[in-house]
Amino acid sequence: MDRIIVRGNGPLRGDVAVSGSKNSSLALMAAALLGRGETRLENVPRLRDVSAMLEILRALGTQADWDPEDDHAVRIDASTIRSPEAPYDLVRKMRASFLVLGPLLARFGLARVSEPGGCAIGVRPVDQHMKGLRALGAKLSLDHGYVEASAARLLGGNVVFDMTTVNGTQNVMMAACLAEGETVIENAAREPEVVELADVLQRMGAEIRGAGSDRIVIQGVEALRGVTHRVAGDRIEAGTLLAAGLTTGGDVSVRGVDPGTLESTLDKLRECGARIEADADSVRLVAEERPRPLSVTTAPFPGFPTDMQAQLMATLCIAEGASVVTERVFENRFMHVPELQRMGADITLSGRSAHVRGVARLSGAQVMATDLRASAGLVVAGLAAEGDTVIHRVYHIDRGYERIEEKLRHLGAEIRREG
Ligand code: EPZ
Repeated sequence: MDRIIVRGNGPLRGDVAVSGSKNSSLALMAAALLGRGETRLENVPRLRDVSAMLEILRALGTQADWDPEDDHAVRIDASTIRSPEAPYDLVRKMRASFLVLGPLLARFGLARVSEPGGCAIGVRPVDQHMKGLRALGAKLSLDHGYVEASAARLLGGNVVFDMTTVNGTQNVMMAACLAEGETVIENAAREPEVVELADVLQRMGAEIRGAGSDRIVIQGVEALRGVTHRVAGDRIEAGTLLAAGLTTGGDVSVRGVDPGTLESTLDKLRECGARIEADADSVRLVAEERPRPLSVTTAPFPGFPTDMQAQLMATLCIAEGASVVTERVFENRFMHVPELQRMGADITLSGRSAHVRGVARLSGAQVMATDLRASAGLVVAGLAAEGDTVIHRVYHIDRGYERIEEKLRHLGAEIRREG
């Protein structure tokens, strides 16, 4: 079982390129199912989740693989879809594969996708995805753990989500592209991954207005074509590397990301006392002093991202004073807390809030990764701790961070992988 050993080694310094966005890549790969022809995605991170999505696309009968000439590009040819079923043993590995439901329904009129089930951070139901697709005239039912969906022809409709859902917005938006007539999605997610997907769908021939606002209007069209697209930089990986720079008192620049996609993260890092400079596709963070404490509550975009909560908490563990971290998006996203406490962090949980009293220094310890972003938080904490931190079950981190130890070593971290 792989583990990562991190030794606190002083300030991180230097300049590193972030990988392409994992979450954008997954949604765009599902969108490729809508195109009659080849879609090529570049700047795709080499992650297990991406390979899992390729496997699912192949199971549906498309040609889907990494490009032999470019190891960060995937080619997906959905000219022919053989089977509208995404099997349980593939979907359970990667819940974002539920994003094939909308495209299959739109393209094929039929879909059978395993219900993704919950994960460590929460129950993560898909009732809103189903509500939205029903509003487009689809019939959906749950049968032995599978969502069975059918629609002779999807018809444009009005969808009002009960809560903001990123993948729910994406699933319905993709289905609506080939529905007959107009679809209006109210209370739509505004995440950059929704905007990027809408941009690519438009280049495939879709007619979409309002992506990035909470009201998206889609005029259905007859067919979509394949497209070539370079995936945007990963805003969460960028935020993670910058938080590591602040936590170690360093000077870190991240390249290949649009600062506009992580504004709320930069705002919190500034509030912590960091000096931030940004240009079109890079951000530099200079830690001028020990992090200052603050209050933060996670929220849908443009609020502070839940995917950055664990990483910022690690920074606040050594801040000069008491902070409050409130998690409002997922119901169980504090599993990094007991692990941080093992490293000497002074944290008290109360309902959806964690009260963090900063300590002068954390101490290295054996800790357990439990989910993707919790493990990133433990790496950030380990970089600033005294001694060695051994992070077990590191496959979690590999799901969302490509070659994380190489990137951090490039910034001066003492970090290695074993096992
Ligand atoms: C996306 O998940 C991301 N994953 C998550 O990133 C991210 O944390 C999340 O958005 C929030 O930003 C991908 O894009 C692949 P939601 P998603 O639907 O779309 C509830 C990472 O670390 N909900 O916006 O599944 C849900 O339980 C991952 O990269 C329903 O109740 O998240 C949650 O409490 C983790 N019913 C809230 O809404 C539904 O039908 C927001 O979830 C759908 C969602």
